[in-house]
Amino acid sequence: MTTYVTTPIYYVNALPHLGHAYTTIVTDVYSRFRRLCGDEVRFQTGTDEHGEKIAEAAAKAGETPRQYADRIAAAFAETWPHLAIQPDHIIRTTDPVHVRTVQGILQLVHDRGDIYFSEYEGLYCQGCERFLTEKELVEGNCPDHQAPPKLINEQNYFFRMSNYQEWLIEHIHRNPEFITPERYRNEVLSFLSEPLEDLCISRPTSRLTWGVPLPFDEKFVTYVWFDALINYLTGIGYPDGPDFPRYWAEAEHVIAKDILKPHAIYWPTMLRAMGLAPFKRLHVHGYWNVDATKMSKSLGNVIRPVELVATHGVDTVRYFVLREMSFGLDASFSSDAILARHNSDLANDLGNLFSRSLTMIDKYADGRMPVREAEAACTPDDQELMSAMSAMMVQYRDNMDGFRFHRALQAIWEVIGLLNRYIVNNAPWELAKNPRQAERLQTVLSFLGEALWKITVVLKPVMPETAGKMATALGMSESFVAVTIDDISGWNRLPAGVVIDKGTQLFPRLEKKAPADGTQVAPKGPGKKKESPGDGAGLITFDQFKTVELRVGEIVAAEKVAKSERLLKLTVKAPEERTIVAGIAAQYSPEALIGQRVIVAANLKPAKLMGILSHGMVLAAKEEQPDGTEKLVLATVAGPIAPGSRVA
Ligand code: ME8
Ligand code: MG
Repeated sequence: MTTYVTTPIYYVNALPHLGHAYTTIVTDVYSRFRRLCGDEVRFQTGTDEHGEKIAEAAAKAGETPRQYADRIAAAFAETWPHLAIQPDHIIRTTDPVHVRTVQGILQLVHDRGDIYFSEYEGLYCQGCERFLTEKELVEGNCPDHQAPPKLINEQNYFFRMSNYQEWLIEHIHRNPEFITPERYRNEVLSFLSEPLEDLCISRPTSRLTWGVPLPFDEKFVTYVWFDALINYLTGIGYPDGPDFPRYWAEAEHVIAKDILKPHAIYWPTMLRAMGLAPFKRLHVHGYWNVDATKMSKSLGNVIRPVELVATHGVDTVRYFVLREMSFGLDASFSSDAILARHNSDLANDLGNLFSRSLTMIDKYADGRMPVREAEAACTPDDQELMSAMSAMMVQYRDNMDGFRFHRALQAIWEVIGLLNRYIVNNAPWELAKNPRQAERLQTVLSFLGEALWKITVVLKPVMPETAGKMATALGMSESFVAVTIDDISGWNRLPAGVVIDKGTQLFPRLEKKAPADGTQVAPKGPGKKKESPGDGAGLITFDQFKTVELRVGEIVAAEKVAKSERLLKLTVKAPEERTIVAGIAAQYSPEALIGQRVIVAANLKPAKLMGILSHGMVLAAKEEQPDGTEKLVLATVAGPIAPGSRVA
């Protein structure tokens, strides 16, 4: 099997941040996963270097667009090794071969009659580098860039996108996996329910020269999206490279929701006009926020991936972003959250399991992988472990293939939990005291070794460095390099007799850094004056009431919090998506909550519950029952109203 997977090509007007890192890590993890499944994989990333935005940024920096693009493109390319990201090809839209490919395609589509010249007036957002429709504006601004678009009137070339609207709708209906997760597929279908306008694909050279000249009219350059999307073809040798057909047939693109429209609408229609089949799958993820607010230069909260790796280690960063974000939904980054995952999931659950198991094999089996008793001697505990391991393998494959990385990791961590319990239940240190239990002891140890080898292999795509250390400690470094997932199916795949090295510590615990100046962060609040409790006999002023920001929230996702009977982790849209941990698991199942409108206390200071940062609180009414238990019912609104509406 073959896999071809791409990231967006990033604009060179900003240095790489957590968002770019996330998409590229995800694509790297997926590539490595497909390789583990035995596929031949091509993974491409790159930079988008033409257009107004870049020309302006270069001018500001006092450089030519070329110098400027070279510098920032290099900063992207140099970031990836720090994150253990290994693309097979890094494309730049200024590569001469790309420029030729774009011109070839423009000529082809022009010859086929799908490009025409016309006058146009529209609202142009430079941040998006596209015309927006009135409907997309929020209070006159582009919602993504918080700035009003410019009214532009000029003569330009247009692509007959509207010709392909019916075909595209049909294609999306027939191929449920074409755009996932489903919410984005629905978003595209809803957009397509209105007539599609043709796409402006040029800029006059009087306004912009930093672009690919149109082959049929030198007074114009190509509009950035028509140039940019074609990178996905150039990189694999379109039109007549020997590998092109094989890779194109398997093309999968990974993007965030900001560029859904160009990828889900412009791109398939462009391909259709060229006479090419559409890509196979488009995977759309949400946005990373920082401490629940938008990441932005002006707020000074931009997270730089290289700094993150320096503090936490590359594998912790890779694990954290995959585990913390439900692919498709927004997620919030915080130093507390990454530290909590590092210490609890990695140092504690995985790290301790690994070191205590290897220490016991060292002590009770002379440091060699022991031989296991015959199948017949297996206890129910062993059976449970074996079936849990096989179930994990199935879930792992299914969820990795479906871009549900957090689920795949959850499945692995469930067996890690089970293995820790298996050790306690079987107490090898007790078995060691009784010579008649010698065989049983070896069996227990061999189950542990075998399970750890399987965990090593499934973690390889996510944490290549750690998995490498684990393989070496398990005496499997040679097999590790080219291991495939089939090599770990069934049992007894870790050969008896291999020499184990117990001295490997996978994740040292990390301590929270004290604020540099040693001061305490003061609690935020309106005014410093203390109200005396007697004031107004327990009454509060309207101003005091107004300090609580209540909003309508729509629950868009819900899941149980591991190791808690009471807590659910909710994703609530109010109107931005945020994570809220709520103590309602006894009364509500996660499925029953999806789509419910609730009332959210939106400006509470984030608080951590079971290691999860909760941004606000969901309101519920409580009634004490005669038997002393509590009945709990969510507060809601009496009619339809948009998520995010203020309750006052
Ligand atoms: O749009 N959270 O480039 P771009 C998650 N050149 N991902 C984020 C993010 C965030 N806060 N911010 C950025 C362009 N990203 C075009 C693409 S493709 C043919 C042309 C990631 O530099 C995410 O992958 O603005 C998003 O789609 C991409 O960066 C946008 O990068
Ligand atoms: Mg952008």
